[in-house]
Amino acid sequence: MDKNFYITTPIYYPSAKPHMGHAYSSIIADFFARFKRIDDFNVNFLTGTDEHGLKIQRAAEKKNIEPLKFCNEISQTFRNLSKILNLTNTDFIRTTEDRHKLSVQSLWSELKKNDDIYLSKYSGWYSVSDEAFYNDDEVEEIDGKKQAKLSKSFVEWMDEESYFFRLSKWQKPLLDYYNKNPEFISPQARKNEVISFVKNGLKDLSVSRKSFSWGIKVPEDDNHVIYVWLDALTNYLSALNYPDKSDILYKNFWPASIHLIGKDILRFHAVYWPAFLLAAKIPLPKKIYSHGWILSGEEKMSKSKGNILDPIDIIDKYGLDPLRYYLIKEVSFGNDGNISQDKLEDCINSDLANNFGNLCQRVTAFTIKNCKGKIPSEINFEKSDLKLLDKFDLNLIREKIDNQDVNFYIDFIVNSLFETNKYFNDQEPWKKKDNLVRLNTIVYTTLEIVRRISFMLYPIIPESALKALQIFKISEKEIKFSTLSNNNYLKAESNINMIDILFKKIEKKND
Ligand code: ME8
Ligand code: MG
Repeated sequence: MDKNFYITTPIYYPSAKPHMGHAYSSIIADFFARFKRIDDFNVNFLTGTDEHGLKIQRAAEKKNIEPLKFCNEISQTFRNLSKILNLTNTDFIRTTEDRHKLSVQSLWSELKKNDDIYLSKYSGWYSVSDEAFYNDDEVEEIDGKKQAKLSKSFVEWMDEESYFFRLSKWQKPLLDYYNKNPEFISPQARKNEVISFVKNGLKDLSVSRKSFSWGIKVPEDDNHVIYVWLDALTNYLSALNYPDKSDILYKNFWPASIHLIGKDILRFHAVYWPAFLLAAKIPLPKKIYSHGWILSGEEKMSKSKGNILDPIDIIDKYGLDPLRYYLIKEVSFGNDGNISQDKLEDCINSDLANNFGNLCQRVTAFTIKNCKGKIPSEINFEKSDLKLLDKFDLNLIREKIDNQDVNFYIDFIVNSLFETNKYFNDQEPWKKKDNLVRLNTIVYTTLEIVRRISFMLYPIIPESALKALQIFKISEKEIKFSTLSNNNYLKAESNINMIDILFKKIEKKND
């Protein structure tokens, strides 16, 4: 079985500092990366910044700064955010790096060699904000201004000499590929959108620009820079040192396990990218998963709309783990979601402080007082105990994660916490002082469930889960998903430790 796992986030435009939408994609990717790592996979996790193109050139001009200097500054804020979000990315790529330029030019030469690129002239609509070409029927006029129907971004007319990629030639192979690989585009609803777009017919794609210079030069034609999406998408390969196919990174990690993206950039990833790869005879990534949008009111939160929430402000106020938990739980994965501080506070109070934090404190304090601070050894499981312990069906959980069923995973945790709290209350171990075996068994079962839930929470709230695991002195390296298999329980007689309060409750203003 392939124990390598390669996950990517989109590489973000450093046209303005990061916002909650970027934090969201990155946190979800980190969740998968951490899960796979504790399940003994060798994980490569890539994020970075997408620095070429007219959008960035104009943003730099507006500030009167050289594009590279402009990118250096803002790219750094994305890199800093990765640390602030506690991401376990193994690399951070910038498209202005030499390793990337080399890859992009090699891919171009490969496409050219295979006769998939030719010189012609482009006339049509272009959105600088999306860095995308639109057909007439994808554009509408509102208040005298032309805009893309899908993204609502303004378009401008473009008329210039351009190299083209023979996208039309790949229409049928793409449809065949989607058909043969039903999981390639997920979730299902997104896949249907892509298929109907491709079935509508694909026109050859303009893949170079002549009227500005902020980009990677077309090999053997200095007058053109390579279209920013062909440049950007290649990052997934350049981070593995493509074109050196003998490189250990390339050998281990290509094809990627999953490109995690937002649904705004589905067409580029599910149509253009696989077409480029097919044309270059490079294997296709295993999955493109596009999640929904964080909304601000009814609209997508985006820097061009200016309706953004700064993740750093929220983290300063509430801490990182509450934000990670909240985004993973409250934005139903795959769908759009609204976020509010009010709901975030509810999450902290009820799920994190009450259900998880309290359970950890309670059972630890009880063990210290009644079991000499040791994991009890004289135990005898009854049905009610085994019912809780047997719930952890590892293969089911693995399967759900491989299908990106984040909602199942979080519901599983929330339900387990609820049931365990209820179990501890209903069993009333404090009334069992004349039946020590029963008292011990309840304590043992509850502690074991705390260990299990903390393992499962680790990919979501790593720092807090590690704190909880200090009850058992379990370190990060010792978090192994496989040790949740049946009969693999806590070692009796080892000492347990009191821990600090995990989450402080927020005092809510009455409305
Ligand atoms: O598109 N809700 O970069 P970008 C959820 N450089 N996710 C959101 C979001 C929101 N409101 N806003 C942004 C680009 N995102 C290209 C990508 S990849 C080869 C090149 C997330 O800065 C989401 O993942 O506009 C979305 O797809 C991505 O940020 C777009 O970031
Ligand atoms: Mg965008």
